[in-house]
Amino acid sequence: MADAHHPLPQARFGATARRDAWWVQPAIVVLLLSSFIVYATWAAFQGEHYAYGPYLSPFYSPELFGSSPHAVFGPQPPWWPAWLVFSPALLILPFPGLFRVTCYYYRGAYYKAFWADPPACAVGEPRRRYLGEASFPLIVQNIHRYFLYVALVFLLVLAHDVWKALWFSDPITGRTSLGIGVGTLVLATNLVLLGGYTLGCHSMRHVIGGYLDRLSGHPMRRRAYDCSSCLNRAHMRWAWCSLFSVAFADLYVRLCSMGIWTDWRIL
Ligand code: FES
Repeated sequence: MADAHHPLPQARFGATARRDAWWVQPAIVVLLLSSFIVYATWAAFQGEHYAYGPYLSPFYSPELFGSSPHAVFGPQPPWWPAWLVFSPALLILPFPGLFRVTCYYYRGAYYKAFWADPPACAVGEPRRRYLGEASFPLIVQNIHRYFLYVALVFLLVLAHDVWKALWFSDPITGRTSLGIGVGTLVLATNLVLLGGYTLGCHSMRHVIGGYLDRLSGHPMRRRAYDCSSCLNRAHMRWAWCSLFSVAFADLYVRLCSMGIWTDWRIL
């Protein structure tokens, strides 16, 4: 069969035959991701107002060292560099942060929104050379699957935080009793949304059955694979909802700790 090669002319940046408002989605992504990054960075450097009663902000969990009763290994360690403000969040936040940064969905979103590479499907891009993920530096994004294991551990830690958020101490007798506050629901909702996001990760299906030739004959794995695939179909929604919920959970604990919001007890 005859073969014809016609090199496609490269459209100039932003040129497109599309008539829809293709720029709206990348603009929203820039706005939302920038707002989250600014808030999360600010909150991580505060180093205070991250715990209130039995609640611990997810930005600070697990609190390895710190001044709250949730700290696992006690107060600020002596080896902490004097030039760096001490905040327990700085020790742990890079891990969930890198899990998100390397997420397949977010990659697609911020490549378009921040790098305009391309700004949207069928829209001219600014570079002539293809900067793919097959070479350095973007090949590093393949580390995502390893951050998934770390994110799964974080899910367990956050589940333990929700359990702790069910136990309220009486300010007079000091006795603890089971209860539910609005903060408990905020932390529990955040756990569910983060769970939906993490367990629907593209790499999760490789973890469950990627090393098997066939899933038939492994009914438990088959079910887990189907569950993860089902969550994965709405991965974009889980990604955004969990991003909002984790920021809101930090804000909720912070404002309660500062005395600006009151944590209502439901039970
Ligand atoms: Fe999005 Fe793994 S692909 S969390």
